[in-house]
Amino acid sequence: MENKVAVVTGGARGIGLAISMQLAREGCALAVLGTSSEEKAMNNMKPILDEGARVLYVQGSLGNAKDRQRFLNAILNRYGRIDVLVNNAGVAPKQRMDLLETTEDSFDFVMDINLKGTFFLTQAIARQMVDQLRKEAGHNRNPMPVIITISSMSEYTASVNRGEYCISKAGLGMMTKLFADRLSEEGILVYEIRPGIIRTDMTRTVAEKYDRLIADGLLPQKRWGEPEDVANAVSVLCSGSLAYSTGQTIDVDGGFHIRRL
Ligand SMILES: NC(=O)c1ccc[n+]([C@@H]2O[C@H](COP(=O)([O-])OP(=O)(O)OC[C@H]3O[C@@H](n4cnc5c(N)ncnc54)[C@H](OP(=O)(O)O)[C@@H]3O)[C@@H](O)[C@H]2O)c1
Repeated sequence: MENKVAVVTGGARGIGLAISMQLAREGCALAVLGTSSEEKAMNNMKPILDEGARVLYVQGSLGNAKDRQRFLNAILNRYGRIDVLVNNAGVAPKQRMDLLETTEDSFDFVMDINLKGTFFLTQAIARQMVDQLRKEAGHNRNPMPVIITISSMSEYTASVNRGEYCISKAGLGMMTKLFADRLSEEGILVYEIRPGIIRTDMTRTVAEKYDRLIADGLLPQKRWGEPEDVANAVSVLCSGSLAYSTGQTIDVDGGFHIRRL
């Protein structure tokens, strides 16, 4: 991955930070988007900076079209190209609410960031990748450009107290298939990673519940997932080893997706 440019949304915290660390270790220059202040994000990413990696951080919201454009402009100004996109940023509803009480505000908040923002950032970066590939025709394209979306087991698992989150993640599953199909003729690989229960800020408030469920046998592999488990899957997908598997989904969930009797 030496000299490749990787974009990681939400790459300064949680699963995204582990992905940023992994890709930086493999030689990528990073472009990271998040809503936190630059000071806070850079402090989180200090171990990456200490290892000498190039990091661009842009403060902005994935859900805001102007911020997405500003992010893209900043990446192209700094690096002039994009080789990897990891759509990692995502939010849970601010408040879990029964399906019969879910509000339009909460629905819009979650969908604007998780689904609409991710779709339009992917579209913009896919266009950039296509332009690059056309200009660089005849050059070595290995590993091929890659787009990876971090969805969730909530894509196919009903949680009736956060339906808008489940719907946004189900949408990302179809988004992956659509871009994989459209971009296959361009030579761009598109994948989805579906994490299960991963230890981050997002799951901190429900940690006791998940501790109990895991101890009671919810998962075939009886442990929490760690952000590094997801980062390792990103690493494999970026390597080009799965170059004939575009559109594929990898479950990083300790076997949660297996139906059991
Ligand atoms: N943890 C799990 O068990 C789990 C399971 C399945 C799927 N996932 C998915 O994995 C991804 C990462 O989750 P996580 O557990 O690492 O969550 P997290 O700890 O809550 O981190 C969320 C990340 O998204 C960024 N973000 C949030 N809103 C944003 C916005 N409007 N614009 C740009 N960036 C934004 C955050 O950065 P700022 O704070 O700077 O905004 C942060 O880096 C999410 O898509 C989540 O749905 C997580």
